[in-house]
Amino acid sequence: MSAPTDGPGPGKPPNIDLYTRNGFAGPMATIARAQYSPPYTRVQGSYAPRRFDVYDVADAAFAESRALPVAVLKGAGVTVEVARRSEPTAFAVRNVLADELHYVLEGAGELHTDFGVLQVRAGDFVLLPRAVTYRYARIDSPLREMIVVTDSQLAVDPENAPGVLNVELHVDAPVPDPSIDRGPGEYEIIIRHGREFTSYFYDYDPLPSLAVLGAPIVRRFNIENVHGLGVEKGGLMPPRLINDTTTRTMVYYLGNRRSDRPPIHHNADYDEVIFYVAGPGHYGAVDKPGTVTWTPKGIIHQGPEEDVPEGYEAWLLETRAPLSLTPAGREIGRLMETGQFDIHPSVGQPA
Ligand SMILES: [Fe+2]
Repeated sequence: MSAPTDGPGPGKPPNIDLYTRNGFAGPMATIARAQYSPPYTRVQGSYAPRRFDVYDVADAAFAESRALPVAVLKGAGVTVEVARRSEPTAFAVRNVLADELHYVLEGAGELHTDFGVLQVRAGDFVLLPRAVTYRYARIDSPLREMIVVTDSQLAVDPENAPGVLNVELHVDAPVPDPSIDRGPGEYEIIIRHGREFTSYFYDYDPLPSLAVLGAPIVRRFNIENVHGLGVEKGGLMPPRLINDTTTRTMVYYLGNRRSDRPPIHHNADYDEVIFYVAGPGHYGAVDKPGTVTWTPKGIIHQGPEEDVPEGYEAWLLETRAPLSLTPAGREIGRLMETGQFDIHPSVGQPA
């Protein structure tokens, strides 16, 4: 059932806006209205919903073999970045101030980490906590990644497991393999500290490990093993996949599911960033994998129907950090309407 998309007429119910604090964890209230609140005619200023196609980040930005990810959204303690890699890297990276959640939009390759080796492929989420060193050692087909970098400590902690994600079966960790040792030579580790970088050099390969014990640190799962929980009625919140005990920055699964269309929403405390990563079903006006939608906190939105029988894959980043566009984000971000997440009708019209 779709929510009404315009005001009440004869026999039509009013529109119901939902106002929530702390995501859906705090006080909530509804507002019954004749008008449908999401549409706006135009906006002046920078605090505006945007839609990005990650393929619009020019390949030139990644042409250099030392190219690092490009941020499109940034806020206090969190950035949303895009990376493309067609060649293995000679260097390794260690982010010492932030956790990194990598989503592989396309491609495949071999990732070396302090904790062992992972064969990564499209649909993988790889959680690389801070202070873990990693390098892309082999590229089987060019990798394109969407990366969330956050001060928050992230944990793979699905709600409604094992229905949504079976952690025992479908979340794995890298496996040590001493044979990856590349032998004598000069090796570089780029330490990422905030927006700055410092390089350390070694005369031995610093990545290989013989064995690891203890808590799993680097974790990986594929979106094909994540399932939405259908509900006949309602279904306010999609299931959480990645938790942050401070509740600052969390990730939810937003693939198709049986549910009502989401409510008209005033999300008082969280920016919402949605990554549409696979079809064939359309998510409202979004139908190209690699599309990212950003609705800043407090901007009234509804968003498309999620009950799409053809199926699609998407995930949602919620953050208390007020996000804003980076220069690269400004280049590719297009003003978005907040009903079906289409390009806003004013785009391309004279101001
Ligand atoms: Fe929302």
